[in-house]
Amino acid sequence: MRIAIVGFGVVGQGLVEILRDKADALRDEQGFAATIVAVATRSRGTLYDPQGLEPAALLEAMAAGGLAHYPARDGAFRDLAPLTLIRACNADVLVECSNTNLQTAQPALDYCKAAFETGKHVVLANKGPVALAYAELVALANAAGKHLRFEATVMAGTPSIRLAMQALAGCQIREARGILNGTTNYILTQMESGLSYADALAQAQALGYAEADPTADVDGWDAAGKGIILARALFGSTLTLADMSVRGISAISADDVAAARAAGERWKLVVQVTPTGGSVSPVRVPMAHPLAGVSGATNAVTYNTDLMGDVTLVGAGAGRLQTGFGLLSDLLDIARLGG
Ligand code: HSE
Repeated sequence: MRIAIVGFGVVGQGLVEILRDKADALRDEQGFAATIVAVATRSRGTLYDPQGLEPAALLEAMAAGGLAHYPARDGAFRDLAPLTLIRACNADVLVECSNTNLQTAQPALDYCKAAFETGKHVVLANKGPVALAYAELVALANAAGKHLRFEATVMAGTPSIRLAMQALAGCQIREARGILNGTTNYILTQMESGLSYADALAQAQALGYAEADPTADVDGWDAAGKGIILARALFGSTLTLADMSVRGISAISADDVAAARAAGERWKLVVQVTPTGGSVSPVRVPMAHPLAGVSGATNAVTYNTDLMGDVTLVGAGAGRLQTGFGLLSDLLDIARLGG
């Protein structure tokens, strides 16, 4: 499988690190081999080599400051514009992991369209296009006879999408509810241990959990975007961010955290979506509540279904390798379907 990676920050590099370290196991155990033919960064160059790029050398180049440090072969193309690169390259799959934009979904939405138009599958960690243009992307994928996958957009590589769309296929899912943002859950957990809000946020950024602009995390919009993705993909809903009531954690003070603890409770940023509405809000839950034990960058989702009642999934909600794995799981899925 030849892949083009657009957006080469924490998540894109996480995927390449996995491909570097697990190439043998993926080949032997899954019959899967990926060749990275193109990489595009926002401000540190782009590269396209139809013969393939070396994962280890790509990571070393980024550590040295950018793709200019990659020892490219003759016949490789440097610094093509991302749209040109996506259209021209020989990749089978576009892996889109540039920064999420929940207002316009751009430029990632145009990248996805260009990929489908030129006969490529699309795998996203970027939440913008899925949250804002899900129906359009599904229609484009179907028209092209290609696959659209987005496991990494909700709960990183924890299979929240695959559980709902594949394992629970045949059940009607009536509600999704849980903790869907790693950064805010990490901050709340660290504040309980006495860390300040600012220090906890700085740690979440250093660990690669936070969005490029972390106000999307702390004000609840990242969690809301994930709620929209679940509502659109699972319920066929046309819910938008404007339909949701969204409150984040920026107003939660150290005193609020201490008051909850004194009452045997914990703050959690809870997302809830049904086919017709949804909300994101900080909630005080008793210690015995199932969500109280979900700490750090771990997330949880409960699907309320007609045939199975509640089905709950708990696992990583953010992180370099965890989100990189979400992308890998989609690539494996596409490969199993015949790529
Ligand atoms: N900023 C997001 C979070 C990354 O903290 O959950 C994963 O989508």
